Amino acid sequence: MTVPPDMESEARELREFLRYHSYRYHVLDSPEISDGEYDRALARLVELEGEYPGLVTADSPTQRVGAAPSPEFEPVLHEQPMLSLDDAFDVAQVRQWHARVLRFLEREPDSDIELVVEPKVDGLAVSILYRDGALDRAATRGDGYTGENITPNARTIRSIPLRIPVEGARTAPSVCEVRGEVYLSLQAFERLNQERAGREESLFANPRNAAAGSVRQLDSTITARRPLSFLGYGLGRLEGATVTSQWEALQLLRDLGIPVSGDVRRFASLGEALSYCRDWMARRDSLAYEADGMVLKVNDFELQERLGVVGRAPRWAVAFKFAPREEMTRLLDIGVNVGRTGVVTPYAVLEPVNIGGVIVRQATLHNEDYISERDIRIGDTVVVARAGDVIPRVVAPVVSRRTGGEQPFVMPTQCPSCGQGLIRAEDEAATYCTNSACPAQLARHIEYFASRGAMDIEGLGERVSQQLVDAGLVRDVAHLYHLSQDQLLGLEGFAEKRAEGLLAGIEDSKARPFWRVLMGLGIRRVGGVVAQTLVEHFRSLDRLAAATEEEIEAVHGMGPHTAAAVTQWFAQPSNQAVVDRLRRVGVTLEQESVGAAEAGALAGRTFVITGRLAHLTRAQVRERILGAGGKVTETVSRSTDYLVAGEDPGSKLERAAKLEVTVIGEDELLRLLGE
Ligand code: IVH
Repeated sequence: MTVPPDMESEARELREFLRYHSYRYHVLDSPEISDGEYDRALARLVELEGEYPGLVTADSPTQRVGAAPSPEFEPVLHEQPMLSLDDAFDVAQVRQWHARVLRFLEREPDSDIELVVEPKVDGLAVSILYRDGALDRAATRGDGYTGENITPNARTIRSIPLRIPVEGARTAPSVCEVRGEVYLSLQAFERLNQERAGREESLFANPRNAAAGSVRQLDSTITARRPLSFLGYGLGRLEGATVTSQWEALQLLRDLGIPVSGDVRRFASLGEALSYCRDWMARRDSLAYEADGMVLKVNDFELQERLGVVGRAPRWAVAFKFAPREEMTRLLDIGVNVGRTGVVTPYAVLEPVNIGGVIVRQATLHNEDYISERDIRIGDTVVVARAGDVIPRVVAPVVSRRTGGEQPFVMPTQCPSCGQGLIRAEDEAATYCTNSACPAQLARHIEYFASRGAMDIEGLGERVSQQLVDAGLVRDVAHLYHLSQDQLLGLEGFAEKRAEGLLAGIEDSKARPFWRVLMGLGIRRVGGVVAQTLVEHFRSLDRLAAATEEEIEAVHGMGPHTAAAVTQWFAQPSNQAVVDRLRRVGVTLEQESVGAAEAGALAGRTFVITGRLAHLTRAQVRERILGAGGKVTETVSRSTDYLVAGEDPGSKLERAAKLEVTVIGEDELLRLLGE
């Protein structure tokens, strides 16, 4: 079929329009049009291409959906090997590396040399070859010499241009091999795992594994559904352009429209580079992605050439790794905790140990199998790991340090709280106390009900929950709403003011949106995300309680286990009684009356968060905004009400200024939240 010329030019214009705006969005993080406008243009192009298949080009933005599955990956030979890096674990080791560089170049021991410092993003190294500006082939690093051809997969990653340059006057080199890291941002990783949990699929252990697993898919339509990102940090083959330094290489990448980290810097001396590393590394827990340190590179390519490679690592670069998040210590004892759902979890009592600046005294041991599979014994020297906010865990025993006196762990047969016999289902690793009146379970459940993520009752933490249960004042969460001042004054540590404060907090919680109540009920598998989904769909507790398993499973994102857990919970007469009493005291049990969106202080407001905040992580800020009925989006647009900006806010701040969006800091946000 011949294509009318006006259709051809419309398609070309649409391609260019979409390419430019995709680059603004995915590479510069600074969109100029709304998502809706983009989607409409894309839909029009899909329509045109559907009508006239001759219009489809390899670099069309419609071609990012993945190709037919291939039976295997083809090997790709790297003409220039993809090297690895030597590690330095402290400043002294970086100085040693630098001294060796100077020695090798026959410079004075303390002389200066220009260095480039880059973040070491933890993902999967890939090589992307452009020929005459078109993405021609992408490959994994493999063993450094031979990788795997992942071209269809790379084409689905939005921040990897299908054609370079994306904009501007520069022409593309005839051959340009870009090297960089494919990774998942922490937010994308969490979202992916949440979705997988909803579908009851296995979870990825960390963003690196998730990125590697997503890139190495024979079916690239799966890769297309994973929110992968890319950062370029180097060049392989280059023909038709000259660069003489790493800094110029990064500049070239940027000019061509390849994303480069905003945190790369060039320094005239090692001292300045180290001071930047120290500052940057202090922000480890607030980065948007997982990193394992920084890379220091000698800037000048001529010097790099002279320094050469030893083994598989260049002499001209070094990876300055973050302080390890693992340490060794002694396992003094193993205790067990009874959780709110009755799951009995063993935990390690440790000789206190400093891991990355935090003193760790306890660590989780997950379950009985975890201990026996690793043969962890009381008295062992063990490796303990801690990552970000995650609870520390015992990784493994150091068998070579055994003295013979270590004792194997025996799971108790009775609940340490209520004494009832514990059970373990054959196909599950967890051990349970099934006594629904077990005081430990009840105390944990009260604490959970009152927690910030659920009903957010200030002053009702672990200790007070336990006190209320021990004194026999509450036998389920509904009893909280019948507590009196006199009863509280009878508890240790309670004077009038504290008792009044707690009662007021409990009273206020009646107005919390329904999804928080639903979450607080403690139904297995019903956390915040599931609760919000269910409320969105069923709107009232009565409708949810009357729903069948099939009806719940039919809700997008719900799996059969979740559906079964919900119906089983509502089938229990004791649970129905709790719900009835919550209703009578006036707790919100439907969305229409006081829905999540209307209830909070930030109802109807849209926020974007950027930069490094002083006290809260971005995830915490996000959680608070959502909790108060607000919305959080990624990009600043005309519908954004507030930009919450911390240090180094980047391009979002400029965009907010342009669109006259109100910019606030962390303190003002807390004020809006009424905190
Ligand atoms: S340079 C010539 N720069 O680290 C040295 N690598 O241990 C080769 N990586 O396989 C790489 N960020 O996956 C370089 N800014 C960066 C990097 C980086 C992450 C990874 C890359 C490589 C591994 C080397």
